[in-house]
Amino acid sequence: MVAGSLPPHMILPNKHGIANYMTDCSVLRTFRRDIKLCCMKRQKKLPSKNLHHEHGYGAASRVFVLSDLHTDYPENMAWVKCLSTVKYRGDILLVAGDVAETYKNFVLTMSELKDRFQSIFYVPGNHDLWCRLDGHNYLDSIEKLDALLDACRILGVETRPRMVGGLGIIPLLSWYHESFDREKDINGIRIPSLEMACKDFHACKWPQGLSSKDVSLAQYFDALNEKNRDLIEDVRRHSSQIITFSHFLPRPELCPEKRMLFYPNLPKIIGSDCLEGRLRSIHGKDGSSEACHLFGHTHFCWDAVLDGIRYVQAPLAYPRERKRRMNGGEDWLPFCIYYDGHLGERLSPCYWSDYYSYNKRQPENTKLAPWVARFYSR
Ligand SMILES: [Fe+2]
Repeated sequence: MVAGSLPPHMILPNKHGIANYMTDCSVLRTFRRDIKLCCMKRQKKLPSKNLHHEHGYGAASRVFVLSDLHTDYPENMAWVKCLSTVKYRGDILLVAGDVAETYKNFVLTMSELKDRFQSIFYVPGNHDLWCRLDGHNYLDSIEKLDALLDACRILGVETRPRMVGGLGIIPLLSWYHESFDREKDINGIRIPSLEMACKDFHACKWPQGLSSKDVSLAQYFDALNEKNRDLIEDVRRHSSQIITFSHFLPRPELCPEKRMLFYPNLPKIIGSDCLEGRLRSIHGKDGSSEACHLFGHTHFCWDAVLDGIRYVQAPLAYPRERKRRMNGGEDWLPFCIYYDGHLGERLSPCYWSDYYSYNKRQPENTKLAPWVARFYSR
């Protein structure tokens, strides 16, 4: 995501099913007590079967989710290689983008995952389309996108909608646009420009007519989903549950407010209105208890229901971010979102989505959170 802009905040349940997601990040101490209380309340409701399952729990395939693998970091590649080669053999993994910056690491990562899971579904993230290190092989990021999708076809990684039993899985292509952010800006501090903070502006190359500075890229990527219109419609009609997934965010409420962020302009480079429209056309305007959307990109673990759709993010994230999770992030595993023929019935404990389940979002409040104020006063 944006280098140096985000603190790691949350962690998903570990393999023991303990909600040990409390960060040791001291700047968040202010909220700890409230979150601990919320976690304790929620813990009492947790059905044990909804925690991380050993294989063999149910006859149906389980579905795991993961985003932001960033395996150009050797620690993250090692994490992938350390995943069990036995536990997930009957399972599905949904990879919500940002696998690796280089083609070589992308292929290696996907091959390793394919050796472990029965099926892998994938949508590209912004880092996957960077042309910084092997750009000489591609005319632009669109050509690299085609190369990655070709690699997926060869590896047997799925990038198109498909039904698995009664479950519909629909990958959705997307890109962000600045106008996605309509909340009040933070003024009075020197916030780096988007071009300075976001490497996409330099590491991606776009053909003429496409740009991160307007809605053209968001519309271009959204239109690519039209190629799958018939498949999507087929899945929509015949599935009893549907999981859609994208790399970027479909709604601004899936990111903390600007005053909480080390880079307060982050909401300008994370999401797409086209995406929310697209997934509502699939799940319905009011959603349903069987509707779920997965995303990535911001590296904030998230699990919340908005207007009838469950939105989940489960990022591996950068090593430095993971280290600040409980136990140094050592026992972090892909998150199980579907098992025994059903979507999980509970919300997973995640720092910020838990915070917003107890605290109203106040985007009009631009008073910096203490850790952000300290950061900008240096
Ligand atoms: Fe990303």
